[in-house]
Amino acid sequence: MAETAHTKRVFSGVQPTGNLTLGNYLGAVKRFVEMQSADYQTIYCMVDLHAVTASWPGSEELRDNTRELAAAFIACGLDPSQSILFNQSQVPAHTQLGWVFNCVARMGWMRRMTQFKDKAGKNSEEASVGLFTYPALMASDILIYHATHVPVGEDQRQHLELTRDIAIKFNNDFGEPDFFPVPEPIIEGVATKVMSLRDGSKKMSKSDPSDMSRINLTDDADTIAKKFRKAKTDPEPLPETLEGLEGRPEAENLVNIYAALADMTPAAVIAEFGGQQFGQFKPALADVAVEKVGGIAARMSELMADKAEIDRILGKGADRAAEIAEPILDRTYEIMGFLQSR
Ligand code: TYM
Repeated sequence: MAETAHTKRVFSGVQPTGNLTLGNYLGAVKRFVEMQSADYQTIYCMVDLHAVTASWPGSEELRDNTRELAAAFIACGLDPSQSILFNQSQVPAHTQLGWVFNCVARMGWMRRMTQFKDKAGKNSEEASVGLFTYPALMASDILIYHATHVPVGEDQRQHLELTRDIAIKFNNDFGEPDFFPVPEPIIEGVATKVMSLRDGSKKMSKSDPSDMSRINLTDDADTIAKKFRKAKTDPEPLPETLEGLEGRPEAENLVNIYAALADMTPAAVIAEFGGQQFGQFKPALADVAVEKVGGIAARMSELMADKAEIDRILGKGADRAAEIAEPILDRTYEIMGFLQSR
């Protein structure tokens, strides 16, 4: 795809819906940290407005989940002086552009969204309208900053394609071919889809009823070791070649998790552990997990001890975010002809 005139700017978001999992960490937050650099701007958002589309957790819980996610971001290595960190509801331009995109996106596009179908379940008549139009707000999160690159896990690919469609349709419909960049999803590495520890065909998710299916970033070392020890596997030893992982989703998942945590390729993991039993591999996996993520929980609790400081960081981040978003919203309104006379 041809590069647009837009300068590189990274945006991504995570829902503050409770504990982050190792899937969120490896598929998203670890990569947010890697992209944090002086060369381009990085903007990372706690998408609290999205977090009420499925259900409302209660006001104090929502506030605390938002702070806890901010603490997790910082504990994982995001630096508020390098990246803009803020929660979505503090920057009204997201919902303002979200409305515009509700009018750009087509019903047929939204109906194809598999995540809506998964989340709404059988009784979609009972799902909130917000859950249905969720992807239009997500497109707005990205495009209100003219972001060009969006690091996400595999499960967000379809939403990113819709974001691209919205950008293209807006630019065409309103005769401004380069106004919104057509953002690139960055879905890279071996951990773009970390699977459940209990079922290699399901993604690791914070909403899975079984806590044994996931590693939470707040799990202590013993819990991490226990969950890996009890992780479902098959009776065969690890294969000697990568091809040998085919048709063995649980084994493949554990190899990929090891590779992502240790910054190795899966081939290098197989070269080291091929032929060994899971009884040997699982403790090594637990060790690397504890080494890489075991300290996050303690750093999070330290940060959570000063909620006022977290609120200050998010407020400052929201001010910086609004400074970028507001002129883009103004220009959008101007392009469309909304009369602005003050
Ligand atoms: P959310 O909150 O469900 O997940 C946050 C990020 O974690 C990734 N992820 C995973 N990656 C690998 N393996 C897994 N098992 C796994 N589970 C989750 C997700 O792909 C995501 O990158 N709709 C988004 C939030 C959002 C957003 C945005 C993202 C709102 N606006 C704008 C990017 C840009 C979501 O629900 O993510």
